[in-house]
Parts: sequence; C-alpha cells; structure tokens
Amino acid sequence: MTADPAPAAAPPVLEVRGVRKTFGGVVALDDVGITLRPGVVHCLAGENGCGKSTLIKIVSGVEPADTGEILIDGEPVSRMTPTAALRAGIQVIYQDFSLFPNLTVAENIVLPAAIAARSKLYRAKRLRPAAERIVQELGLSLDLDEEVGKLSVADRQLTAICRALVQEARVIFMDEPTTALTHSEVERLFELVRRLQGRGVALVFVSHKLEEVLSVSQEVTVLRSGRLVAHGPVEEFDVRSLTEAMTGREVDDSRIVVEVDPGAGPLLRVESLTLPGAFTDVSFDLRAGEVLGLTGLLGSGRGEIAEALFGVLKPESGTVELGGVRVRPGSIRSSIAAGFGYVPEDRLTQGLFLDKPISDNIIASSLGEHARGRLFLSPRRTAETISRLFDRLRIKAPSVAAPVRSLSGGNAQRVVLAKWLATEPRVLILNGPTVGVDVGSKEEILQILREAATAGMGVVMISDDVPELVSICRRVLIVRRGEIVGEFTDDRIETHRIQEVIAA
Ligand SMILES: Nc1ncnc2c1ncn2[C@@H]1O[C@H](COP(=O)(O)OP(=O)(O)OP(=O)(O)O)[C@@H](O)[C@H]1O
Ligand SMILES: [Mg+2]
Repeated sequence: MTADPAPAAAPPVLEVRGVRKTFGGVVALDDVGITLRPGVVHCLAGENGCGKSTLIKIVSGVEPADTGEILIDGEPVSRMTPTAALRAGIQVIYQDFSLFPNLTVAENIVLPAAIAARSKLYRAKRLRPAAERIVQELGLSLDLDEEVGKLSVADRQLTAICRALVQEARVIFMDEPTTALTHSEVERLFELVRRLQGRGVALVFVSHKLEEVLSVSQEVTVLRSGRLVAHGPVEEFDVRSLTEAMTGREVDDSRIVVEVDPGAGPLLRVESLTLPGAFTDVSFDLRAGEVLGLTGLLGSGRGEIAEALFGVLKPESGTVELGGVRVRPGSIRSSIAAGFGYVPEDRLTQGLFLDKPISDNIIASSLGEHARGRLFLSPRRTAETISRLFDRLRIKAPSVAAPVRSLSGGNAQRVVLAKWLATEPRVLILNGPTVGVDVGSKEEILQILREAATAGMGVVMISDDVPELVSICRRVLIVRRGEIVGEFTDDRIETHRIQEVIAA
C-alpha cells in the first residue's frame, strides 16, 4: 500500500510519525502518521471527532503531541511551535480564515509576512507589490483595495490562501474549506488547488464532501477513532469504500420517506410571505409528520425564508400560521411560543455557549419563558432529556459535563440539534443540519429526524445537499432569486431533476 504518486516522486516535505495525543482521558490520536510530498494533494478523511483537526494542530505547532516525530525535509523537529511551523512553510487555512475585516485584501495578504519580518504596518504598504504579484500569478480577480469584511466567503478564502503563499507556504492544510462555497466557487478553488500543486505546494484537504475530496486528491489517509485505518492512492477509493473505511460499516443512503396522513390538514401555513430584496410571495403548507425540503443556490433567499419563519427576519407582508395560530412577524419569542424550533446555519456563532457544558446547552432553549407550558421542568426530567439526547445523537464526548468548546465540529453540530429536539417543537426548521457532519452521522441525523416526523413533528429542511433532501423529503421546493420556482413530490423527487431546476 505505498502511495508514491509517480516514479519520480519528490522526497517528502513533511512527515509525521507515530503521533499520539490525549486530552485528559480522551485519546484523540493514537500512532498516526502521514507523509506529504510537494505537488501532491492529500485527503484526510474520517468521521467527526476522529482526530483530523487535532493532527493539523499538532503539525502547525498549536498543540504539542504526547509522543511522536515530525520531520521537515527529512530532518526531525525537536519541538514544533507555531513559529517553527511558519518558518518551515506550514500554513493552515482555518474555516474562519482569521482575517482582519477592517483591513483591505492587500493589507491582509502582506500583514503576517510583515509582522514576521518585524516591519511596521505602514511599511507593509511597500509589500503591496508582493500581494499584487501573488494575485496575478494565481490568475485571481480579487480587488486588492476592497475591505475584507465586504467580501464573499469565497473571496475571503482566496485572500487567506494568497496570504499563505506570500509567506512562502510549502504545505497548506485546508480544514473543511468548501462548506460555505457555492458549486462554481468550489470549482474556482479546485482550479487554484491545481495551480498550487503545479508550484510544488503540498496540500492536505479535509472535507466531509467525499465526492469532492476524491476529485481533487491524489492520496488518501483515513482516520477512525484516532487511528489510521486506511491509506493509499486515490484510485484505490470510491465514495463507498471511503465511507466504509471511515465508519467501519456500510451506510445506507436510500430514500426513506415518512408517510403523511393524507386526510390531515396543514400544521403550518405560509402565505404570500414577502421581504423585498430577499424573497417574494412565498406560500406553502406543511402537514404534521411531513419533511419538506427547501433548496436553491447560496443567495437564492432560502436561508432568509427560514429566518423569517422563525422570526429572525421580519417579512414586510404575508402570514405564518402554526396550528391555526397566527405567528407575530419578526418575533422569535412568538415563533417559539407557537412551537417552532430552529437549527441555524452558523452553529458556532448562533447556536451554542462554547464554554458551557453540553448539558447546559441541550436544555438552554427548553428553560425559562421560552418553554411552552413547561415552566417547571423537574431536575429529574431535565437530566433524563439530556442523557437521552446525548445517547441518541451519539455525541462523542467523555460526558455531558464536557464543554462544547472541546468538541469536534460535527459533534458541536449535534448539540445544536439536541438542544432543539429537547424543546419538542411542532415544526423544526433546520438550516444546513448536516453541514460539516460525516457521512455516517449524516444518515443517523436524518434517521432521528424521520423518527421525530413519525411522532408528528413537521420538518422544514434547508439544504444544498440535494441527495440528502432526496433521501428524506416527501416534497422539495426550489428557490431562485427569492421565489419558489419548482416543486417536486414523491416519485418525481430525483437528484438530477432537482439540480437542473436549481441551476436553470
Ligand atoms: N481541547 C480539547 N479538549 C478536550 N478534547 C478535545 C480537545 N480538542 C479535541 N478534543 C477531542 O479530540 C477528538 C478529536 O477531535 P478533532 O477536533 O480532531 O476531530 P475532527 O476529526 O476534526 O472532527 P470533525 O470532523 O467533527 O471536525 C474529539 O473526541 C474531541 O472531542
Ligand atoms: Mg475538525
């Protein structure tokens, strides 16, 4: 199972051998190694909490390993620190990109290099040509004088990549770089990845979108529960075998749709909802037990519709009725009182108290004035709810007392879901519920939603993952430029049909 891509494979720029890392009692990595060569894209795959981000932190000097070795150009590094990593040309593009929103693109690109060279920011202006050069070399159409805070997510990411390259990156780690990108932006990123390869940069790509990683990588390393379970050239893998390596089982992604009582009246009634600039004349019904999908491109208005249903945004006109009761527009409190639950898109900023234990987060929304008619939750019932959801969602943590900050990305996402399931909503709105969640867990989450629907909950699921919608929704609505332009029901629900209408 050697993975040398070509006979003339270049010697490794970075090697990790036998790394072990524990957090308290949790073994995050156990005897893990990886070899990175110039010009090769390496996919690092595995379920939520398997140790991918931890490995990146160790290599970039953010966390020390308990044991193990890191070699750069064949030379062992005695102690990896952030500075040593930078000096070796190791760069990580994190999901938040760590950019300065008030500075321009050019300033962001050259600033860290300027700091490293101990020059003052005003001198950084002199480094502007370096920024220009890198943007030009990569053939990007970035406006160097635009403030970063005004850029799209994709352009911010490109800025972060340029910044890495100005610092002469030889190894670039990208931890889930495509989650917030549209299809065409992903294409643009992949083009850039190929150009970086051409320049001899070694890349490591972490993503839960397996088709994507297989199309862009040449080598694959799979971790499971902190151990290396598979490694080889990409030709040895397809989505199925990669999934199996990650989860240790076969994952069933076939379409299973909860039956809806054909005689039942609508539970939720949305009529002519309009918010100029966001969406126009949106109307639909939802019955108890029905799972409805809402899809469309990023910026189509699908997210704004979800926010208007939950009262985050106030529509200019139109009505929302839940169980026959009119919900006050633009009032989250009224929406919750009516029986809405909402799993937001940006779980880390909108959904969680990171320093609080999992348990507090799970019951956060069920307490206080929010909870419909359940002002006095007994401690015993509360504890039961917490432990039931903790088990049911298989949140990977030593106990419910662990702070959410210590969880991996996908496990934090489950806590958000648990929190809203705990409120027992009549209609649960989910915006991208499985973004950042691994394939196996994704199926589990969909199964939990199916069970909740079977028990009578209505589900509105906003997602750009069409196969996921196909596997669970009875009906899918397609939003384009703020309007519902298509509807698919039952047998007509097929991935390619839906994708055609989305892209039309
Ligand atoms: N600072 C920390 N304190 C305690 N436990 C931690 C800490 N950082 C990570 N862990 C644990 O180490 C394990 C590996 O986490 P890691 O973030 O590396 O997973 P991951 O593979 O990146 O997952 P995901 O796909 O969900 O992002 C998890 O069990 C996590 O809870
Ligand atoms: Mg991670």
